[in-house]
Amino acid sequence: MTSPPYWSAQNYQKMHMLSFQVLGLKEPGSAEIGRRARDYLPDMEAVIAQLVQVLDGHFALVIGESRDGIHEAVRDQCQSHGMRLVDSFRRRIVNQAFFAKAVKNEYVYVFACPG
Ligand SMILES: C[S@@+](CC[C@H](N)C(=O)[O-])C[C@H]1O[C@@H](n2cnc3c(N)ncnc32)[C@H](O)[C@@H]1O
Repeated sequence: MTSPPYWSAQNYQKMHMLSFQVLGLKEPGSAEIGRRARDYLPDMEAVIAQLVQVLDGHFALVIGESRDGIHEAVRDQCQSHGMRLVDSFRRRIVNQAFFAKAVKNEYVYVFACPG
């Protein structure tokens, strides 16, 4: 199961700022998935291409609903890598975290992996 960054949902660098400082880690900047709109789908494509190499059985993807259909584009990327959609759920997000933007619902897509 994975819960990747939802496009435009959070500024994770800001959210994890204290952890970066306490652990002495370099802040990711543009390496953060979802920081720059133009990089989001290519970044997710790279993640999914690697996931499909190692996964077996079922895979659940949790992703926020976006008005511009980005969650569907990520679902379609999984399918283009041979993952077969076997179920999907849409649920209301009731416990919005701090810095949260306006993501009201999320999807859980369940795939059967080709491996
Ligand atoms: C929706 S959150 C899910 C976090 C965790 N899986 C959970 O369920 O609580 C997405 C996470 O991906 C992290 N992330 C963003 N870009 C990343 C990258 N390039 N490499 C690794 N993690 C990244 C964010 O910092 C954030 O913590």
